[in-house]
Amino acid sequence: MKKQLILSLALLSAGAVWAQTLRLQPDNIDKIIENLTLEEKARLLVGRENSESDKGVPGAAGVTQDVERLGIPAVVLTDGPAGVRIAPTRPGDSHTYYATGFPVGTVLACTWSPELVENVGRAIGEEVLEYGCDVLLAPGMNIHRTPLCGRNFEYYSEDPVVAGTIAAAYVNGVQENGVGTSIKHFAVNSQETNRIEVDEVVSPRAIREIYLKPFEIAVENSNPWTVMSSYNRLNGTWTQSSPELLKTILRDEWGYDGLVMTDWTNERRPSWERVAAGNAILTPGHDWQETDIIENVKSGRLSMDDVDEQVRILLEMIVKTPRFKKYQFSNTPDLDGHAKLTRRAATEGMVLLENRDNTLPLKSTGKVALFGKTSYDFIAGGTGSGDVNKPYVVDLMTGLTNAGFTIDRRLKEYYQAQKNLVDKTNAISGERNRLNEPKLSKRNIERLAQENDIAIVTIGRQAGEGGDRQIEGDFNLTSDEREMLENINDAFHALGKKVVVIMNMGNVMETASWKGLPDAILLAWQPGQEGGNSVADILTGKESPSGKLTMTFPVAASDIPAVNDFPTGSGSRHGDHRRNVDYTLHNEDIYVGYRYFNTFGKPVSYPFGYGLSYTDFEYSKPVVKATADGFTAQIAVKNTGDIEGKEAVQLYVSAPGKDMEKPALELKAFNKTRSLKPGESQTLTFHVKAKDLASFNAAESQWQTEAGKYEVKFGASSSDIRATASYNQKKVLTAKVNDVLKLKRSLTPVSQHTSK
Ligand code: GLC
Repeated sequence: MKKQLILSLALLSAGAVWAQTLRLQPDNIDKIIENLTLEEKARLLVGRENSESDKGVPGAAGVTQDVERLGIPAVVLTDGPAGVRIAPTRPGDSHTYYATGFPVGTVLACTWSPELVENVGRAIGEEVLEYGCDVLLAPGMNIHRTPLCGRNFEYYSEDPVVAGTIAAAYVNGVQENGVGTSIKHFAVNSQETNRIEVDEVVSPRAIREIYLKPFEIAVENSNPWTVMSSYNRLNGTWTQSSPELLKTILRDEWGYDGLVMTDWTNERRPSWERVAAGNAILTPGHDWQETDIIENVKSGRLSMDDVDEQVRILLEMIVKTPRFKKYQFSNTPDLDGHAKLTRRAATEGMVLLENRDNTLPLKSTGKVALFGKTSYDFIAGGTGSGDVNKPYVVDLMTGLTNAGFTIDRRLKEYYQAQKNLVDKTNAISGERNRLNEPKLSKRNIERLAQENDIAIVTIGRQAGEGGDRQIEGDFNLTSDEREMLENINDAFHALGKKVVVIMNMGNVMETASWKGLPDAILLAWQPGQEGGNSVADILTGKESPSGKLTMTFPVAASDIPAVNDFPTGSGSRHGDHRRNVDYTLHNEDIYVGYRYFNTFGKPVSYPFGYGLSYTDFEYSKPVVKATADGFTAQIAVKNTGDIEGKEAVQLYVSAPGKDMEKPALELKAFNKTRSLKPGESQTLTFHVKAKDLASFNAAESQWQTEAGKYEVKFGASSSDIRATASYNQKKVLTAKVNDVLKLKRSLTPVSQHTSK
């Protein structure tokens, strides 16, 4: 008896000692889960606002919770796509924590250069690491369903192949630093109006081909540590509570094995349901959510298996983090090196829209009449969680001065007196209330034309998270802007002097009604903290523009296929089932962007894929060869001009269209030359898989590549096809998928009420 007692006491104390020494390791996660209490598991699955934890980084978006007993640390989640979003200063700390303000998503996409985007991602990832964070809540990669969504600046394109490819490059770059990313917002977060509640009503075909496809490409071509489930509902079900989306499609079909976290919703939605659906972190996180999980496990509504599955996924992510590895971060990332990178990267995403009589590059620096309030208050990025606390922003006035131009002093002083009146108080919508363009009399403008060599005019637009754009006064030019532009044009052209317009915005605006006025238009987008220098580098020819549009510029808002199925900035949070507020019908189906305009022959102001260069390029006869799983294509591009430049070549395919209704053409691949000197050429190679030619047959719930002759088109844009070839798909390919995310409301597809 005594021996047994001694033995059991010895075992107990050994167990206690062992339990105390049980610490999370990559190879003991099962053991840890066995030792976690239900309360601890619930704690792990529910995050906290960064401000509510002493384990975070000031200003970061949030943290997970720790379980010190088992050596499970809290990890830090921080925004955002254009750079690390943390507080730039800390009370009692003389060090500063500014992060580089990189170009926004639209700029990165318009470079058409995954290599450049990976380099930017790598730099952002270094700042995530050195500022002590673990997961960057980026890239934002929702489709530009219309130009009116407030957050388009954070996203990439109207086209799924561009969006997915650029997102994958961004993820690979960031994660080279040993930190994580979060591809967001999964899925169909197509509007900001009532984004927390809205039910996005979409056909299964459009869901698969347009809205999920970018995420599928990103998962296939990178390995994002996390996915962020979006706020909205999709066909009646919260995406955050949809196992069909988060498990059946994301994991069973696509093979994703990372972590899903929710977007930051404080709505009292069933927390147990969101864990069961496949979220491993409920953010921002409140104690009532932990209670909800515990109570529903005890009631049997939430299985412990579901809880353990998500805890395992979370711990597998945690053991990869710098925080778990106790990385000694420096708080001194390479901000100087990144400033140089962002300056150059921005120039590669800017798009030259007009350049009459080779106005640009400017032959010499001289005296500039710099118009437009935004010239003196340049917009580096959008508002909301996608904004970055940058060390500075180089405005256009400074950039031009740095480049050796002389800015008209009186005009500068006039605008600078106006500048401080911009309402920057509200992080989400404040900057959108930018003052109307200050008025200048015709006589003043005529005097300025006398006294200066050239007019440069900036048109600025701001938008961001939490609200969509208006058509009047936002998408369209304001009457003040139009009057200013016309008066400047008259005055300077009367003296044979040039007018250059700089568009400083994160999204599309109306251009058709005024683009004939100036001699040149450069779409600078929201180019990050070095914006003014980047624009000057293009204007002076130090950098040659090679950006191309990854979205369509329509002639008018009324031409946008979804314009009647989109909120125009109105919207309530809790409407009474108001259309475009509480539910939004995607009647345009798959006909988003150029898929609509090219298929239905609608004219546009600037087409998808469009962008001028300072030089010209010639495309050779392409060579297309069938391979075991599709085809490869080669084409040589030659610089036939007298200025060095790069050319982004787009490969479109027009399907036979016998088995289903198809868009006139679809982008299937793209490539970009290195910088080619005059006379130089480069052969570009493209690989296209037959499965990527497939359309989604909803009736059969299968991807379907029809047999027959496909036209292969090499475009300088979607409307400027320079060379064609063909590819013969010998047999039909099909791939069954789960028949999920079913439509619960009827749609009237645009093809039924739009004549071809
Ligand atoms: C926001 C955004 C999301 C962001 C998160 C944390 O509401 O929708 O993109 O990462 O909350 O700030």
